[in-house]
Amino acid sequence: MTRTVRDYIRTIADFPHEGIMFRDVTTLFADPRGFRMAIDQLLHPYAGIAIDKVAGLEARGFILGGAVAHQLSTGFVPVRKKGKLPGTVISEAYQLEYGEAVMELHDDAIVPGERVLIVDDLLATGGTAEAGIRLCRRLGAEVIGCAFVIDLPDLGGRARLEALGMPVHVLTAFE
Ligand code: PRP
Ligand code: ADE
Repeated sequence: MTRTVRDYIRTIADFPHEGIMFRDVTTLFADPRGFRMAIDQLLHPYAGIAIDKVAGLEARGFILGGAVAHQLSTGFVPVRKKGKLPGTVISEAYQLEYGEAVMELHDDAIVPGERVLIVDDLLATGGTAEAGIRLCRRLGAEVIGCAFVIDLPDLGGRARLEALGMPVHVLTAFE
């Protein structure tokens, strides 16, 4: 039977904490058919739509976003965790399960008016993606959507991003 993107995702129980069912996309990335299927499906809604840049969220959003950008012939910009980018950055703090984290973007990564697609592997609470959206918008981007392989709907991220007026595209969901 033909395998779907979901079939290539491995679940590891109790990582990184007891009680978490970790959805591991390395097994999807490792398979040539799985990886191609994921990239093709991620970019499918954006065929024929003007996009200037893909913004990938650290870390797995770099792998997916780079491939999507190549396929769409756009530029790629990394949204990174604090302290990793060498140039002048803008920063946005966001909530983690415990405490706070900060995402950064080079202040010249986007030209005002550019149309940006945000890409990551997984949408949980939406905090990371919201930080990415805020960073891109602060540089004058029109963020046209966010694309993820996995949604965890119980954590509410999709509703949170849609409340910001953001179209959300996901390939599969795990309850
Ligand atoms: C994971 C995932 C997303 C984020 C989603 O990354 O890859 O980027 O969590 O969670 P949220 O919707 O609740 O913000 P993580 O923060 O574990 O970092 P990593 O990519 O460096 O492993
Ligand atoms: N980030 C937040 N929750 C996650 C999960 N269950 N699997 C993988 N990454 C995650």
